[in-house]
Order: sequence, then C-alpha cells, then structure tokens
Amino acid sequence: MMTYNNIYTDTPENIKRAAQIIQNGGLVAFPTDTVYGLGANVYNPKAVAAIFAAKGRPTFDPLISHIAEIDFLPEYAQTDDRAIALAKHFWPGPLTFVLKRKDNNPSLDLVCSGLPNIAVRMPNHPMALRLIKESGVPIAAPSANKFKCISPTTAEHVASGLGDKVDMILDGGPCAIGVETTIIDLTTPNMVMLRAGGLSKEAIEEFTGEKVLISHGDPNKPSAPGQLLKHYAPRIPMRINVPEQEVCDDEFFIGFGNVKGAHLNLSPTGDLQEAAAHLFAYMRLAESQSEFKKIAMSPIPMSGLGLAINDRIKRASYQE
Ligand code: TXA
Ligand code: MG
Repeated sequence: MMTYNNIYTDTPENIKRAAQIIQNGGLVAFPTDTVYGLGANVYNPKAVAAIFAAKGRPTFDPLISHIAEIDFLPEYAQTDDRAIALAKHFWPGPLTFVLKRKDNNPSLDLVCSGLPNIAVRMPNHPMALRLIKESGVPIAAPSANKFKCISPTTAEHVASGLGDKVDMILDGGPCAIGVETTIIDLTTPNMVMLRAGGLSKEAIEEFTGEKVLISHGDPNKPSAPGQLLKHYAPRIPMRINVPEQEVCDDEFFIGFGNVKGAHLNLSPTGDLQEAAAHLFAYMRLAESQSEFKKIAMSPIPMSGLGLAINDRIKRASYQE
C-alpha cells in the first residue's frame, strides 16, 4: 500500500490549518457524505481557477457551493418557500439545488461558469461542516478527481489522482453514500432533476407531493459534466447489464445480488444503498487488476439509488 504525505486526520489543529489554507486561497480536499470534494473559497476566483486547473476540467462546467448553515443560502441565492422547505428537510444530505443567483456578484462568475444560476448543498459530514464553519466562507468543490475519471470515496483515492496538486487532504474515512448528490433545478415551476444521485427521486416526490421531471440535456453541451456521455470512466473498457453466464474469462466481474463467480459483489443481498457505497471503489479495484482486460457488471435495478448507479455505469462504460 502506498503512503501519502499530505493526508491529515480529524483533529481540531488539522481542521484549523485546512481552514487557513482555504482563507489564503489554497485547495483542500475534504470528505462529504457522497464523495470527496476539492475545495476552495467560493469568493476567491483565483483559488476557484486552481480547482479547474488541478482537475483538468473545462470552465464551462460550474461548481457546487458547500455551506454549513441554511442562513448562508439567501446571501447569494434567491430562495423561496419550496427551496427553504426542501433544505430544512433534506439538509445536511445528498441533495444539491440549482437556484437563481441573488445579485450578480462578479467574484462568483467562475464558480457559476457565467450562468445566472448557482448550485448549493450542505454536506452531511462532520469534518466538512467543521471545515466550512472554521473557514467562514462557503466552499466551492467538485469531486476531487481528474476530469472524467472515477470520483473518489476515500482520502487515498484523492491522493492517487491529484497528489501534490492539492495543499491538504482531510481524511474522514470512506464516504457513506458513495455516489454524488442528486441535483434538482429549482429555477422553474416544475422541479427538474439534472443529475440522479444519493437522494432518490421518490423521496423528493414523497416530501413535496410534486412530480420531479428528468432532464435529458444535450450531451454535447452539458449543463452538468456528469451529463457527458463518457464520465466516471475506469482505465479499461467496461460492459454493463451482463448476466453471470455471459461473463468472459478476461473480464473482472463485479456482481450484484445473488450471482455466482463475481470477483467482487456490490451487494450480495441486492441492497442498492450498499451497492452505491461500493461502486466507485470497486471500479478502481477492477481497473487495477492487471490480469483482466475488461470489466463486466451485473444488471442493477432502476429504482431508488439504482437510478444514480445506472447513470454512472452507463457513462463509465461508454465507448467513444
Ligand atoms: O456529491 C457531490 O455533489 C460532490 C461533492 C463533492 O459535493 N460534488 C460534485 O461536484 O459532484 P461535480 O463538480 O463533480 O458536479 C457538480 C455538478 C456538475 O455536473 C455541474 O455542472 C452542476 O453540478 N452544476 C453546478 N452549478 C450548476 C448550475 N449553476 N446550473 C446547473 N448545473 C450546475
Ligand atoms: Mg465529478
């Protein structure tokens, strides 16, 4: 196992040091309930530009702001009763809102990629919340991986992908949810899901009593990079929806449910939450097995978190 020298554990001193880095315009990777984020002061365009550079991410892909108190929301976003009710119910948690920006503070232009809207969330992870509070500013953070690669769910994943491009990596253990947030556009009368994620569409519909529409977007002009056809990709080709009897000898088989012959099983009991939590780590393990040329994955049902899992693996398996 490789060891990395910029990973720091959860101590008050380390959080304080990380907050100072954020305040001074540096980059800190930190754990959230969904995946690890690569953070910078939302109001510092130079620091935000460093996020895009470290990831190799095109600047037309806007970033999510992370806040630790609902009171921060009206500071830069236009809120309404629906947004506040959703925030009170689901935050902190795996849900991101897209809202209209309040006044067009130019220092937020890069975070928002020039769009009139801003994406905001409150992560459900004590280290993330402490870091944001200690920093005293919202933290802009995409997932802490190179553009198009697999999102990180451990501090070691971050270090192996971004290494010394990040000033400090806070280690909060493996992410409990394992897939990114569900993104809901609240700028229109109907709620529109821009990205399936850690909170099921059903849970939002049940709470609001309203239907959530699904955005199909334009894959070549995505408003979310997660909408690119190829994304979250392992280094070797991957086939999805493969029944156990059709797995080839040169394939690393990631199973789901009661299947035989799986090298790894996302959830032997067929639990979608457990499967989401394992997904990215298992894809990383699979791509690192040199004796296999490809990855094959079992079919995953399309309900609850299955929507987010199928979305990620469809993009991960896309052949250009
Ligand atoms: O779980 C998560 O959401 C993680 C953790 C670190 O919080 N973050 C994450 O960030 O997945 P990222 O950058 O990989 O994906 C953020 C998504 C992008 O697809 C982006 O296009 C979308 O949010 N987004 C951000 N601002 C937006 C806006 N103003 N309008 C529409 N989409 C927006
Ligand atoms: Mg990402």
